[in-house]
Amino acid sequence: MSGAGCPYDNQYVDYARMDDLHSLQEPRTDSPFEMSFILISQVKELLFRMVYLEVDQARARLREDRPEAACRALGRAVRSQRVLISSWESMNALTVDEFLGFREILGQASGTQSFMYRMLEFALGNRDLTMVRTSDLDAFPQLRAEWERPSLYDEVLRFLARAGLPVPERLTDRDPSAPYTSDLDVEKVWTTVYRAPGEFRTVYDLAEQLLEVAYQFSHWRAAHLLVVERMLGGKRGSGGSDGAAWLRAVNEHRFFPELWTMRSAL
Ligand code: HEM
Repeated sequence: MSGAGCPYDNQYVDYARMDDLHSLQEPRTDSPFEMSFILISQVKELLFRMVYLEVDQARARLREDRPEAACRALGRAVRSQRVLISSWESMNALTVDEFLGFREILGQASGTQSFMYRMLEFALGNRDLTMVRTSDLDAFPQLRAEWERPSLYDEVLRFLARAGLPVPERLTDRDPSAPYTSDLDVEKVWTTVYRAPGEFRTVYDLAEQLLEVAYQFSHWRAAHLLVVERMLGGKRGSGGSDGAAWLRAVNEHRFFPELWTMRSAL
């Protein structure tokens, strides 16, 4: 192992603690496929964090009234989201019988318990507390802190108001921990922007980047649903849900909802 007192010099390993990283996989069966399952799950977790960090950056830049810098951060988020989606390819190498060879040891472990995924959802603006266990909010203070902070979309709406667009005060002053519901006045604001992209160039570019982030997120959910159908058919999930049926309902959710619905008005 590296670290103080070790005569062996390997700065690559030391810098990013690669030896620690490679000691974090502990398969519980003899199945050679379980190791791949753990590895790809860990890769996805790290990518959730990469996307989260960029969303957090975008939020901070908007607070500083720097929409171009916010757009660049969102562009970086989108690139990591694409990697996240393509990483389902590795998972799909697993056949149903190979998965069933170790599924039992998962017990009640489920992706619903991923606090980094939930941090990302909270940061983007999905504050559905029915998806979170109170024990997770207590166990992961960073998750609770994220839940209490204004989301990226809250900051977008505040930015639009500062830019002179008629976003109602009830939205710019809203309790950030409350779930956000689609709003007709916001839909009208986006419609105004999309009817005159040249006049609202900066806000229009921001809207397009937001839509791309939302699109990639929904794309990830859709790919996950397909993997679940492939592995479980109609069986229940290890977290206790109806499995694919539950995920199909989750797939209906859209981030930044008015950016989707306003298209009917154009
Ligand atoms: C064979 C592979 C997989 C299967 C069969 C599967 C199955 C499921 C099922 C059935 C659910 C619904 C909740 C439940 O009852 O457990 C779920 C949720 C979830 N899974 Fe997976 N999953 C797989 C791989 C992954 C991987 C690799 C990740 C990423 C690390 C992941 C992340 C999630 C997340 C974040 C949720 C919660 C979604 C939400 O709350 O909207 N899953 N999964």
